[in-house]
Amino acid sequence: MTAAPDSLPRCCHGWIAEQTHRRTVAMHRRATPPQRSVVRVSGRGVADFYAGDRAGEASPWKAPTKAAMRPTEPFRDEHRELVEHVEHLAEAARRMPALSRDERDRLRDRVLGFLRGTLLPHAAAEEQVLYPEWAALLGFADAAVPMIHDHEAIVARVERLAAADADDVDTLQELLYGLYALVSVHFAKEEEIQLPAFDAAPEVAARVLERMAATDGHAHAH
Ligand SMILES: [Fe+2]
Ligand SMILES: [Fe+2]
Repeated sequence: MTAAPDSLPRCCHGWIAEQTHRRTVAMHRRATPPQRSVVRVSGRGVADFYAGDRAGEASPWKAPTKAAMRPTEPFRDEHRELVEHVEHLAEAARRMPALSRDERDRLRDRVLGFLRGTLLPHAAAEEQVLYPEWAALLGFADAAVPMIHDHEAIVARVERLAAADADDVDTLQELLYGLYALVSVHFAKEEEIQLPAFDAAPEVAARVLERMAATDGHAHAH
């Protein structure tokens, strides 16, 4: 049987994070270098960027300067922090069949701790601040209704996950995989469809970020 989940407490379920990290490292070791003719960024090949690094030039691979940052970068940073835990939903689903009932119970509790303690407050802050401001930018009061519908679908699955029998491995896996897919796609919609409107209106973005930071449950207010 695998080591007790409590033994690696770094994140919401660190023992899973360690397994994911090992696989990621192994995958990177197997990966072949990107081909100059295939991958290009801003008209320059990847090899040019690495060459720039070696020559001590400023490299676009490094963290962007403050001046180059998009106005919504703090919000995107918050998503990046959450995504690490969202990835664990799929990893938890994969591991469920190999665990004892007690281990499944504890893993489910940790996942619920993240979902209820971090993810759902984040969603509530968006509904309070981000979504109404986005609708105002678009000039259509109901523009964010589909995004709120996503939140409701997520909440329904969180409740089903909390109520599921720890012996019902199929249901636990179904809900965890479902949450992983829903939340991942929802984040992408926010970042790729909603945030660009704020990036084009920096003064609105600054006001929204300030209000989000003041909202209970927002990650930066912890
Ligand atoms: Fe959201
Ligand atoms: Fe979000």
